[in-house]
Amino acid sequence: CSFLKEKERKEIVEILCSGLARQEYRGYDSCGIGIDGDKKDEVFFFKDVGKVAGLRKTIAESKADFSKTFASQVSIAHTRWATHGPPSHINCHPIRSDPTNEFIVVHNGIVTNSNALRQVLQKRGYKFESETDTEAVAILAKYIYDSQPEKRMSFTSLVKAVLKELEGSFAFVFKSIHYPNEVVTARRGSPLLIGVKTDKKLKVDFVDVELSGADAERQTIDSLAPKDPASLLAPPTQPKMSRRQSRNFMSEDGLPQPIEFFIASDAAAIVEHTKRVLYLEDDDIAHIAEGQLHIHRLRRDDNDKPDLPSTRNIETLEIEIAAIMKGKFDHFMQKEIFEQPESVVNTMRGRVNFEGHKVTLGGLRAYLPFIRRCRRIVFCACGTSYHSALATRAIFEELTEIPVVIELASDFLDRKTPIFRDDVCVFVSQSGETADTILALRYCLERGALCVGVVNSVGSTLSRETHCGIHINAGPEIGVASTKAYTSQYIALMLMALQLSEDRISLSERRNSIIQGLYELPNQIKAVLDVDKSLRELAGSVLANQRSLLLMGRGYQHATCLEGALKIKEISYMHSEGILAGELKHGPLALIDENMPVIIIMTQDSLYPKVQSAFAQITARKAHPIVICNEGDTDVNAEYFIRVPKTVDCLQGLLNIIPLQLLSYHLAVKNGFDVDFPRNLAKSVTTE
Ligand code: G6P
Repeated sequence: CSFLKEKERKEIVEILCSGLARQEYRGYDSCGIGIDGDKKDEVFFFKDVGKVAGLRKTIAESKADFSKTFASQVSIAHTRWATHGPPSHINCHPIRSDPTNEFIVVHNGIVTNSNALRQVLQKRGYKFESETDTEAVAILAKYIYDSQPEKRMSFTSLVKAVLKELEGSFAFVFKSIHYPNEVVTARRGSPLLIGVKTDKKLKVDFVDVELSGADAERQTIDSLAPKDPASLLAPPTQPKMSRRQSRNFMSEDGLPQPIEFFIASDAAAIVEHTKRVLYLEDDDIAHIAEGQLHIHRLRRDDNDKPDLPSTRNIETLEIEIAAIMKGKFDHFMQKEIFEQPESVVNTMRGRVNFEGHKVTLGGLRAYLPFIRRCRRIVFCACGTSYHSALATRAIFEELTEIPVVIELASDFLDRKTPIFRDDVCVFVSQSGETADTILALRYCLERGALCVGVVNSVGSTLSRETHCGIHINAGPEIGVASTKAYTSQYIALMLMALQLSEDRISLSERRNSIIQGLYELPNQIKAVLDVDKSLRELAGSVLANQRSLLLMGRGYQHATCLEGALKIKEISYMHSEGILAGELKHGPLALIDENMPVIIIMTQDSLYPKVQSAFAQITARKAHPIVICNEGDTDVNAEYFIRVPKTVDCLQGLLNIIPLQLLSYHLAVKNGFDVDFPRNLAKSVTTE
């Protein structure tokens, strides 16, 4: 939204569309925008199923007057990943309360009690046009507005009243024809930030938070629960005085001046306009009008987080726009695979003293004594991040001699896993916004465990809510299929294990060899990337038109097999399965015949003889496996080889995964699939 700065409609549309396009990498299925129309109560909607490019086309073909200039205006846009109702025009956001656009909402997350709200509102005579959970929210706003006899409620109070009725997770932006040039935005469980752009210097680099009195919070329509529909008739009351007035957001000279605010769930959407942002906390509700930003608290109960600061600092983003562009590559995923020689260096930069064989992780320093004495380490993550924890589990156990448990966040929560104060829980997440991982974090925080984040996105929920942690510094990862984040997470966890074990003299030789291995790694990754062409050929020959693929390995390479299989299924849609070679004879061997494609990882470590047995067992059943082995290994007799340099056993997975990333990429490209936006998947899964 912009205030006091003249803009033509076509500029506004461009800002919205390019912001949406920058978030497309997260993997969404439809998009839409709502911009102010020519008359006070008019809003133009443009919506499309599919990519932002399609939306741009729809807009270009429309008859709207794009030269119209606004001095002050609010426009909203959204890319959707369907939870309630399939991707369709009617389910695209922005969602409106009624055909006259009284309230317009965009929403990330899931409102879990939307069906109950829908039923109650329908009984009240309100009509729904979409299948979305969000529509119940827009209509609820209208209902509350309609219920006031004098229609004097402020926009913020009205949205607060709406949010009090909601269960689930959300980041919302609300606009309304009743509150022209005002916008209200709020979050609970889904990320949200506000970018601030002004030509002048800011007078303050924080915004005060208004802590509304508890009484003010308890008013509203508790009555919306369907069990008591009669109480719906009771109109909501005005909130009482707040305990503290919020400070106006202003420039250094304190004068009104051109100022623009950008509300987004992801910094990538706004970084080309401003790098000055403030991150909203859960239950923050922000109101923007007349060039001023006010942040209030929406309290669910009287137990608001006691340590929550009463200001939100305006931070300066460090990401560069170039870092989120494709450059010379055809796809973001390809770019990110090829960035790994540099991204792994960035993870180690300033942390590893290769000559002194020392690792220093500043973010963990104060907590090291506690971690070393803990009863166990529990890793919790989803998808690729889970695999990075699995890949480093053995080295953690070996170097720290602390029991290690690896948990998939959703299952961890489903089981209500016992967690104790002397546990250390490590949450691994590229985005830092994965809902299951965040819920698992909050579960562990409540139980008093020390919570450590291993996160790529600086400023994300996970990095802010953990006690301490490591930023993996891999740079923005855009492709939905995670690649460089995996290798950087793997290294960050390796560094953590190395630092935890630094006082163990008996392990110094082992530690030194790992640190030397880390030093050689970037060049070895480059060497693996050089086999790209032969992997493309493999994807186009042996693996072309196959429906299924098994990946086998054991020990350190079990995680590599799972991660390789995940990459292949995610983007090439080929069924692929990672198999622990030790389990082969307990079932998977039944799948083997001359037609079943198999990749077997046979790089040399202490388990090499055992993997040779697995190789013998499958070739005896006529399989023609593709073998991933070390350069110069002449012991294996196979038809197809992928050769990788040899490194220390616990680092070998970092090299072995790269050909599998490339193979999955080429399989997808060969089949004409959308590599960066695989069907049905999202980069950041912010819903449970
Ligand atoms: C989604 C993505 C995966 C990612 C997983 C965990 O499923 O498609 O690529 O590994 O979420 O995401 P996180 O951001 O927590 O690492």
